[in-house]
Formats: sequence, C-alpha cells, structure tokens
Amino acid sequence: MSVTPRIAVIIGSTRDSRFAAAPAEWIAERAKARGDWEVEVVDLKTFDLPLFNEVASNAWVPSENAAARAWQETIAKFDGFIFVTPEYNRSITGALKNALDQAYVEWNRKAFGIVSYGSVGGTRAAEHLRTIGIELQMASTRSAVHIGGGDFFSVHPLGGDPKPISSIEGTIGGSADAMLGELDWWTRATMAARG
Ligand SMILES: Cc1cc2nc3c(=O)[nH]c(=O)nc-3n(C[C@H](O)[C@H](O)[C@H](O)COP(=O)(O)O)c2cc1C
Repeated sequence: MSVTPRIAVIIGSTRDSRFAAAPAEWIAERAKARGDWEVEVVDLKTFDLPLFNEVASNAWVPSENAAARAWQETIAKFDGFIFVTPEYNRSITGALKNALDQAYVEWNRKAFGIVSYGSVGGTRAAEHLRTIGIELQMASTRSAVHIGGGDFFSVHPLGGDPKPISSIEGTIGGSADAMLGELDWWTRATMAARG
C-alpha cells in the first residue's frame, strides 16, 4: 500500500451538456494544491457502464461485464473519493447510482467527500449518497461543498452569464477545505486500518 493517499474525483453526471465537469475540475485543483495526495479526475462517462445486469453484487459473484470489471479495477486503485453530483429529483444521478452498484468490495472501508449542486445545494442528493455509502461500508466526511442558491445560478449556464467556480470561492472555499481536511483524516485512518 502506498503512503500517499490516492484520491479520485468522480464526475457523477454523464449527460453531454452537463455542468459537472466545472466543479469537478475546481475541487480537483484545490485537492492537488494540498500537495500530499495523488489526485485524479475519474469521468464516469468514459466507462460507458451498462445498467446493472449481473447475477449479484460483486460482494457475492464476480461481475461478467467487461466495462463493469474495468470500473471495479479503477475504483480499487484509490484510497478515497470525492463525488461530484448534481441533484436529480432530490437524489443523485441514475448514472452515479448505477456506478456505485457496479462495484462493492472496491468501495469498502474507504472514505468519501461530496461536492453537490442544485437550487438548494444538492443537499438532498448528498444525504442519499451518504446513506448509500453506509451500505457500501464507506466513511463520509461531515463537511461537504454545496453550491446552491444565488451561487449556483451565478456559475451555472441556467443563470445566463456563467462565471467560473473560482468566483464563489468566498462562500464555498471554507467548506471545501473542511471537507478535504476531514477526507484526509478518514482516508489515512482507513488506509492504516486496511493495512
Ligand atoms: C432529471 C433532472 C432532475 C433535476 N432535479 C433537480 C432537483 O431535484 N433539485 C435541483 O436543485 N435541481 C434539479 N435539477 C437541475 C440540476 O441541478 C441542473 O440541471 C444541473 O445542471 C444538473 O447537473 P449536470 O448538468 O451536471 O447534469 C434536475 C435536472 C434534471 C436534468
């Protein structure tokens, strides 16, 4: 096991006109700026996962689908995760839920933080994600980044004149650093415990 935590920033929306890439790149840069992690952006869209169609979770039976196996091998490389997710009908995207279902053992005993967005900051999606994380035997940070309200519409194309995410660092920077700090603690703790 390497000593340097390997952290994946997972882009949780796969639609062609998604907003997700902007907050994902922003949090990845902030995570890299810490200087003590290996950080990689993992784009769910590039895996082209089918809807789950295995005989069981890979907790019980190895998956047959080649894309699912490639996804599991990617997840296995990381010690911690930052999920970047919008709120779709008060939950995470179907694509992210499917991707979470397409692995099991690779998620276990690892930590995660969340960057969510939407009119109310994607808070309801974030809470669903934390509940899913319990079943996957993961540890969630308390702090998360929620891009909502006026901030959301100032950086989102729906607002008409989208600004870069860096323009709202004054409001989300503190929660980002709190989330990253907690993710560091939980990631190192679970790495040590797994070792
Ligand atoms: C199917 C669907 C459901 C949505 N439901 C919500 C919602 O419950 N709450 C919310 O704040 N925004 C909702 N939105 C708006 C999204 O926050 C917004 O479209 C955002 O850009 C989606 O993320 P993406 O562009 O990265 O896919 C919804 C959007 C879609 C497409």
